[in-house]
Amino acid sequence: MDESSLYNSPYNDDDYEWLLENIARHFQLDLRGYKQHRVRRRIDMIMRKYSYSDYKAYFHDLTRDGKLWDEFLDKLTINVTEFFRNPEKWSYLKKEILPKLLKESGSRTKIWSAGCSTGEEPYTHAILLEELNAPKSIKILATDLDKFVIEKAKKGIYTERSLVNVPEDIRKKYFRKVDSNNYEVLSFVKNRVVFKQHNLLMDPFEKDFDLISCRNVVIYFDMEAKNKLYKNFAKSLRKGGVLFVGSTERIFNYKSLGLEVVEPFFYQKVEEKY
Ligand SMILES: C[S@@+](CC[C@H](N)C(=O)[O-])C[C@H]1O[C@@H](n2cnc3c(N)ncnc32)[C@H](O)[C@@H]1O
Repeated sequence: MDESSLYNSPYNDDDYEWLLENIARHFQLDLRGYKQHRVRRRIDMIMRKYSYSDYKAYFHDLTRDGKLWDEFLDKLTINVTEFFRNPEKWSYLKKEILPKLLKESGSRTKIWSAGCSTGEEPYTHAILLEELNAPKSIKILATDLDKFVIEKAKKGIYTERSLVNVPEDIRKKYFRKVDSNNYEVLSFVKNRVVFKQHNLLMDPFEKDFDLISCRNVVIYFDMEAKNKLYKNFAKSLRKGGVLFVGSTERIFNYKSLGLEVVEPFFYQKVEEKY
């Protein structure tokens, strides 16, 4: 689909290209792999709020005003998440996939939650490891582009809303009630997760993962960025390792990446292609 037909901006098109180029250069944030109608609509919204008349003036202030930059990042990334998002998929992971991976790799098992937002997803992995009595040395790498969500994730405090899918017994074992509406993840669960800022479209990937979950992140990426990302994930998995994607996401060219579908939304690396 022609992306430009999805949104008509009141601002200058050449200046928009200039803005993206300069944001990439100055902030090391390359938004050119994202769906442009969505990105541009959001940038225009902030500019209208402050009555900017062109992208260049806005960029000038972005480089000088930390609060304006924080707002930019916050509006451009959508951080909605929850514990055990799509619970039936986590049940499948716990019953069918994790036990095999743990058996094969033991205490060297490597797990990565890519695009982890405020931490509910990597902590869900950590809870499953606890439930399966996995060695304490197994840590989950949890990464996101947005440093603010990572700060929140490290605190590990969540409202009732994030816990809607958490069964009562799991709530009791792994959370502490802070007050009437807030729960904190217990420290032995927190200790399983290592948070880092990381840009999936720019930064290098570690290797030899047994399990990578990347869910509800690629929805913002254009086709080219998505294809490159899945190729990099395939390279980063060990043979036999599994990629767990979001419940609306499909990898159409999985065969050419050396992957096989084990169950909808779970792809296993069966062949080294790169
Ligand atoms: C909707 S949340 C998904 C959270 C969790 N994975 C889930 O499924 O519930 C999407 C996350 O992707 C992150 N993200 C967007 N672009 C990214 C990039 N290029 N590199 C790393 N993370 C990115 C956003 O900051 C946001 O926290």
